[in-house]
Amino acid sequence: MRATTAVIPAAGLGTRFYPVTKAVPKELLPIVDVPAIQLVIDEAIAAGCDHIVVVSHPSKGPIERYLTPDATVVAKVRDSGRTEMADRLACIGTEVRVTVVHQDAPRGLGHAVGCARAAVGGNPFAVLLPDELMGDANLLVALVDSVDATGVGAVGLMRVPADEVSAYGVVTPSAASPHEGPFQIVDVVEKPRREDAPSNLIIIGRYVLTPDVFEEIDRLSPQANGEMQLTDALRSQSATSPLTGLLNRSKRWDTGTPMGWLIAVVDIALERPDVANAFGAWLRQRVDP
Ligand code: G1P
Repeated sequence: MRATTAVIPAAGLGTRFYPVTKAVPKELLPIVDVPAIQLVIDEAIAAGCDHIVVVSHPSKGPIERYLTPDATVVAKVRDSGRTEMADRLACIGTEVRVTVVHQDAPRGLGHAVGCARAAVGGNPFAVLLPDELMGDANLLVALVDSVDATGVGAVGLMRVPADEVSAYGVVTPSAASPHEGPFQIVDVVEKPRREDAPSNLIIIGRYVLTPDVFEEIDRLSPQANGEMQLTDALRSQSATSPLTGLLNRSKRWDTGTPMGWLIAVVDIALERPDVANAFGAWLRQRVDP
């Protein structure tokens, strides 16, 4: 069964981006002139999803405003000649159904995904963390295909230098897995110390999961900080049936910090045909006058 629902956890308070996130949800920070959440929704739609479930927080009303269809805005964007952008906006809330559910307190990614359970129903579903932006939908398509073919969950992976593993979920691939994947994941650990990490393969924020993961989420007990990790639910799942790990082969930006966001904005601007030339010329002059 192909995953056609995409869950976007967006309930975090964005404290690393204070003060801007006092008023503007992190997911609406612009990548040039497009909010990050729009890029993630575009990716989900490109991978075949027609139902987007956003897990938000009651204080983040602007996300709901952004997701509310607005024919006047679409018409203005279209009139300005930006047809492709107008089409991307027009389908949200029309052909592509949007459900917003609330996570009332920061109780971790596992709990956030659990909040989407009723909206997801009983089929495989994608999870896209909007802190991470991808150059295209290829990884998500490959994850959807994998789950459709195998019936077990699949996660996107990337190799990182050893000093970066402690910021991520890290997987243990089975000894039989080829170096380039697909990997059979036999264990997962959240944010290990560098010396304890089982590999340098991190989970990037793209998952396609089977609905039985909700039972694992139900069984999670909160950590000392009150949070429940999705990684711990995947860990118990992988102990009984190994998940599949697929290496990302496209570009990926981690916008979880102001520096990462800035890099993404500059890099994506340099790829946008409408701004690349003028911005690239200015940037070259700025760094090498
Ligand atoms: C979350 C997950 C982690 C994953 C990461 C990807 O961490 O818990 O397993 O590797 O996203 O970005 P967070 O960035 O929310 O701390």
